[in-house]
Amino acid sequence: MSLGRELTSEFQRTHYNNQLRSSNSGEKVVLNGWVQNRRDHGGIIFIDLRDIKGVTQIVFDPNFSKQAKEAHTLADAFRGEYVIAIQGTVANRLEGMANSRLETGDIEVFVENVQLLNASQTLPFQLDEYDNTNEELRLKYRYLDLRRVAMQQNILTKHNMYKSIRNSLYNMDFNEIETPYLTKSTPEGARDFLVPSRVNKGTFFALPQSPQIFKQLLMAAGYEKYFQIVRCFRDEDLRADRQPEFTQLDVEMSFAMEPDVMNMAEQIVSDVMLNLRGTKLGNVPQITYQDAMDKYGNDKPDIRFEMLLHNITDVVKGSGFKVFDNAINNGGIVKGIKAEKANLSRKDIDDLTNYVAQFGAKGLAYIRINEDGLQSPITKFLGDEITANIVKHMDANVGDIIFFAADAVDTVNDYMSRLRLKLGEILGLMDANQFKFLWVVDFPLLEYSTDEKRYVAVHHPFTAPQGNILDADGNTEVGNLKARAYDLVLNGNEIAGGSIRIHNNQVQEKVFELLGINADEANNKFGFLLDAMKYGFPPHGGIAFGLDRLAAILCGVDSIRDVIPFPKTQRATDAMSNAPTEVTQAQLSELGLIQKKFDK
Ligand code: AMO
Ligand code: AMP
Repeated sequence: MSLGRELTSEFQRTHYNNQLRSSNSGEKVVLNGWVQNRRDHGGIIFIDLRDIKGVTQIVFDPNFSKQAKEAHTLADAFRGEYVIAIQGTVANRLEGMANSRLETGDIEVFVENVQLLNASQTLPFQLDEYDNTNEELRLKYRYLDLRRVAMQQNILTKHNMYKSIRNSLYNMDFNEIETPYLTKSTPEGARDFLVPSRVNKGTFFALPQSPQIFKQLLMAAGYEKYFQIVRCFRDEDLRADRQPEFTQLDVEMSFAMEPDVMNMAEQIVSDVMLNLRGTKLGNVPQITYQDAMDKYGNDKPDIRFEMLLHNITDVVKGSGFKVFDNAINNGGIVKGIKAEKANLSRKDIDDLTNYVAQFGAKGLAYIRINEDGLQSPITKFLGDEITANIVKHMDANVGDIIFFAADAVDTVNDYMSRLRLKLGEILGLMDANQFKFLWVVDFPLLEYSTDEKRYVAVHHPFTAPQGNILDADGNTEVGNLKARAYDLVLNGNEIAGGSIRIHNNQVQEKVFELLGINADEANNKFGFLLDAMKYGFPPHGGIAFGLDRLAAILCGVDSIRDVIPFPKTQRATDAMSNAPTEVTQAQLSELGLIQKKFDK
């Protein structure tokens, strides 16, 4: 196998493989690329030659010319993914042979000279059969997986998205400024990735979970309009929409209030939608956090379809049906959801019951409205009057099914929001070509963490409260305080989140106090930020987009791994290099570290 021949100037491309048209007919051209496939038709060899731009059909016809005969002999040995350079003549394809699926489908190039630049072994998986290839194998040979046209489209869509975003921000007069990757560990939010210091043994840097504090300090420094497309690091358990390192568009602006940040963010997505999808953004509605929880059961509603949750606690109170009564007597609620014209079988309903059981549902009562009356396992307990009231309250008609959840508020909301999405999927209500943006506003400032037995910040501890928090005293219901925060949701995904920040040192100290962070601890962790507040810190606010999530939705893929060139596996490893790996004793001792033995 001849391997790795150097490129010579006469074999450097004159055109990309998407460029040639009938108007080029008769021209001598040079093309470079990969052999996508090779077909031998009675002594004439056809190859689809692929590069980053597209595909051109090249023809090795031994009768075309004397030189072509030699080229044909060489081409006989070419296989998939060989890298070649060809010199040839463009010709119109014969009548009826055009390929409308190719940009270059009207022409083909008759090869007179070919240079084999590199060969390829048989691939570990066929690029056009990736559906049957498990993801670990795709990730192990990621450079091959990335050659697939679909992956190239995803990665280039992300590039176009970055380009659009940068242009929008340049037009709005934002400055692109970097912040460090070696930072201070401030355990708040997700777990940090730590980096041991060699120079200062026994101490650690942390990789930033976001540039939050630095962008605020840039406001302290007077830069006013900052942005950065930046990697963030969070040592969290992975899911389809979470990676340990992911990319944010991070923005901050001074002398800004909520509408300024939100309008700026809308301008960015409006440009992205126009440039990448050719669609107009239109008005982005807003919903309060409380409304979102009441009507959708979560704080990132998918509003491509309606199907709202209804609190029917008052309607069913005192019905005598023990499941509902017990939930209500224990301080819980009863919610109903109506699946319109839902032609679900008994098995479908059983499957849904099993589905919600994973999220803590103790059952899934329902009422089906049939032509000839109601069908339900619970109407016999509820009685006619309450049943009729429910049907009326839910505005249910023949063909509809009402599902019920009775439990603690959080449990009901969690599994009913999942049931809603599942029903939306089953009933085909989630159109992949629809892009519905939504602002969620008026978040609580703090929420009680039963794990940590203290209040934690819903966004982060630098989020400004609504109203004057310095008035908060022992009588203030801490859980009722609201934040000047906003999240941008797209089709049920949180794609951005931000807030107006605290710029007043006393307010910041008060929030730390409510979070149970005492003055010493606050100074130790965030002293530099608290100090900055003493030297003319302007009012400011900002937002950060999860660009992998936005790209995944725009590309119509389920996992952000499909828009990240080299993602980590579900087990947080790099399948190509097997990182993370052990390091030598010498490296460890240089860092002043001793390693515990671990069972593998
Ligand atoms: P937040 O933590 O909400 O805010 O992050 C902003 C956005 O980043 C995305 N995101 C992720 N994407 C992939 N993998 C992850 N592990 C992951 N975690 C978050 C989400 C999210 O909306 N500094 C603040 C922003 C600010 O207040 O300006 C912050 O980081 O799409
Ligand atoms: P049971 O009395 O437990 O047989 O339940 C009667 C009906 O109520 C069944 O259809 C169960 O699926 C349903 N069910 C039980 N618990 C709940 C609950 N917490 N919320 C909603 N439906 C429930």
